[in-house]
Amino acid sequence: MNFQVRSPLFDSESIDIPKEVSNLSKPFNGSISSGKGDEYLIKNNIIDLLPTEKSYSLAQSTNHWQVTASVYEDLWRKRSLSLLTGDEFPIEEEQNLLTEWMTPKAEEKYLDVGCSTALYARTLKKHCPDSFHVALDFSKVMLTEARLKAEADQTNILFIRADAREMPFFGKSFDGLMMGGTLNELTDELKVMFECRRVLKEGGTFFMMHLVKANHWVARLLQSSAELGGINFWTVDESNELFGRAGFRVEDQFTKGIVCFTKLIAE
Ligand SMILES: C[S@@+](CC[C@H](N)C(=O)[O-])C[C@H]1O[C@@H](n2cnc3c(N)ncnc32)[C@H](O)[C@@H]1O
Repeated sequence: MNFQVRSPLFDSESIDIPKEVSNLSKPFNGSISSGKGDEYLIKNNIIDLLPTEKSYSLAQSTNHWQVTASVYEDLWRKRSLSLLTGDEFPIEEEQNLLTEWMTPKAEEKYLDVGCSTALYARTLKKHCPDSFHVALDFSKVMLTEARLKAEADQTNILFIRADAREMPFFGKSFDGLMMGGTLNELTDELKVMFECRRVLKEGGTFFMMHLVKANHWVARLLQSSAELGGINFWTVDESNELFGRAGFRVEDQFTKGIVCFTKLIAE
């Protein structure tokens, strides 16, 4: 599928992405550039549109460690919802909800924001192989791990290294967006939510999974210490206010323990 990104340096400049980049069965190395001559490297199919390093919170820094990326999905992600809800919550249940709410369609474009190992993009691509998926993260090691998993799963995904606060896409580039657990570790969540609204078409669906404030004081105490490391929590009402301010309406929502799933629609 033809896909264009927006130059990170020149807002009105587009850059065409060669189709072969998202074919993960063949390593692609090279570079792309806008008409202004700004050039970006593609290494092993991962497009680096983040030419200058950002400063990271403690929580964000851990996602740039090789060890975190290696164990993230198999040791943590697959068990995380059961551990966080204190109840049996197999990952398949989350994947079913994702496909049910997103209902990916052939030829439509979807973006996994703060993808880590791109569990959501892979799930939707598997469900609808003719849909087109972009997975974005600012961590190289996470994207490298995501690329390995996607190739193993035979799910062709376009991997882009970029900052969700300034996404290298034109407005209304996507039919659907998904974000799993990332909201809590964004240090600038409203800015990212505005960016999400900008790149999503009107009426498009945004699948959100995030953690909300605990009711029990012990769990709240733990959350307060996590907040020192850059992980933030809101009540469901506070979260919905944030979504509304960014231009989304809540179409469906359910909370289990501190895990909250929300189906947002771009207004
Ligand atoms: C909790 S993990 C996401 C997990 C993943 N979405 C899933 O469902 O398994 C958060 C990810 O967001 C990325 N991230 C955090 N802030 C970001 C930003 N401003 N831009 C791009 N990626 C970001 C981190 O590097 C990390 O990989």
